[in-house]
Amino acid sequence: MIRKLQPDEAPPMDLLLLADPSRKIIEAYVTRAECFVMENQNQLIGAYVLLPTRPETVELVNIAVQENFQNKGIGKQLIRHALERAKEQGFQTIEVGTGNSSMSQLAFYQKCGFRITGVDKDFFIEHYEEELMENGIPCRDMIRLSKSLR
Ligand code: COA
Repeated sequence: MIRKLQPDEAPPMDLLLLADPSRKIIEAYVTRAECFVMENQNQLIGAYVLLPTRPETVELVNIAVQENFQNKGIGKQLIRHALERAKEQGFQTIEVGTGNSSMSQLAFYQKCGFRITGVDKDFFIEHYEEELMENGIPCRDMIRLSKSLR
């Protein structure tokens, strides 16, 4: 089951930190965004966060699946839910950003129908205090992807 997190519920930080290593950055967007969670037997196993950025555009600023539930199709289910939710709200485009070193995430988003639209050079160097490495590659640039909701 996927449901919207209620205003009196704390955001699922452990999950959100899997997708974004900066607690400070998560705290800055999560209060302005809508957070959805997936539950399985009273346990939170997935979450995603939608943040309106421009009049017709919404950004998927976080999506995460609990480690032992990954690669079972749950991420795709969360994306499908996010697309429906964004469409219902009248947005025309959904965007997402991921690191240049995030190989699995780049595969995942493209398998979900997102297309690469640009590169935000040095984004991670400018916005993150610690150096990030994945797959033996320094994470410096943000790869921007988007999908039309029409
Ligand atoms: N190479 C190729 N395809 C890959 C892949 C890889 N390294 N990793 C995932 N995929 C594909 C799967 O094969 C699947 O495709 P298929 O349906 O054609 O088989 C597709 O992506 C969806 O996989 P799914 O099982 O739904 O993904 P998931 O439940 O593991 O969720 C994440 C994906 C990214 C949300 C999840 O792995 C996660 O929480 N990761 C940690 C947090 C994170 O990095 N969030 C994103 C930050 S940008």
